Amino acid sequence: MTSEKRKVVVVGAGSGIGAATAAHFHEQGDFVLAVDLHPNDTPAARHEQCDLRDAAAIAALLDRIGPGWDLLSYVAGVPGTAPAADVLKVNYLGMRLMAAGMLPLLRRDGAIVTVASVAALGWQQRVDDLAGLLDATDGAAVEHWQAQQDPDYPVYSTSKQAAIVFAKRLAPAAWQKYGIRVNTVSPGPVETPILPDFEESMGKDVLDTVKAAVGRHATVDDIVPVIAFLGSPQARWINGQDIHVDGGFVAPLVAGTPIQL
Ligand SMILES: NC(=O)c1ccc[n+]([C@@H]2O[C@H](COP(=O)([O-])OP(=O)(O)OC[C@H]3O[C@@H](n4cnc5c(N)ncnc54)[C@H](O)[C@@H]3O)[C@@H](O)[C@H]2O)c1
Repeated sequence: MTSEKRKVVVVGAGSGIGAATAAHFHEQGDFVLAVDLHPNDTPAARHEQCDLRDAAAIAALLDRIGPGWDLLSYVAGVPGTAPAADVLKVNYLGMRLMAAGMLPLLRRDGAIVTVASVAALGWQQRVDDLAGLLDATDGAAVEHWQAQQDPDYPVYSTSKQAAIVFAKRLAPAAWQKYGIRVNTVSPGPVETPILPDFEESMGKDVLDTVKAAVGRHATVDDIVPVIAFLGSPQARWINGQDIHVDGGFVAPLVAGTPIQL
């Protein structure tokens, strides 16, 4: 995508989409820092372990890695089968802390790309509901907010909605102050190790319906090029956007009856 060698941080690089993202940049000659909770052999120039539920661990990681980066790709995530606090801390708060902490460590014209999900569908109607979560900047505040929510509302959706809203709110100042673009990528179902957990928490019938509508689930190779593009200089005028990468599954849900051909 670009001939210039860049320095890329991939968070959640141990498995699935994150591992494929790290491998993509490594193979094209970029310097990749692969961050994950678990040790892994993902192709990368450097590996760091970090528990994204732990704000102090994130701060220590940022201290260790220092400045001079071109891209933060925050791919880490846990499914709705995990404890609610973990879902909010990994999928939302950890991303927020990494993004805010990396802004001064990224070069001008750099980018932040976070992986959200089409499970965030309807986030526009939840902006007011999420106000308290968007005000929460530490784990205790996030847990306090969640304790007051309807336990039947899927926390995974909440976490991804908050990630999208936060990214859109961060984007204007990130651009104006640092020259950094902030976008999110929202996949539909992807064949990765997390998929059985989604079948458990969202219902296998729901995921099978999605699969039938578009013909198959995504593979990581459907998602990585979109992350790579949004993180590249070619996407220089795209900022504050959430890009669905779902084979078109969501479009008729928001635009009304599909045209029959
Ligand atoms: N697979 C799908 O169907 C799908 C669909 C939409 C969105 N997503 C999102 O894509 C992203 C990647 O998911 P995936 O499918 O590759 O799943 P995956 O389980 O294969 O990878 C997730 C990675 O996040 C890491 N991680 C989890 N908790 C962590 C923590 N506390 N600290 C550090 N790292 C941690 C894991 O170790 C793992 O390497 C997630 O944000 C997920 O929500 C996935």
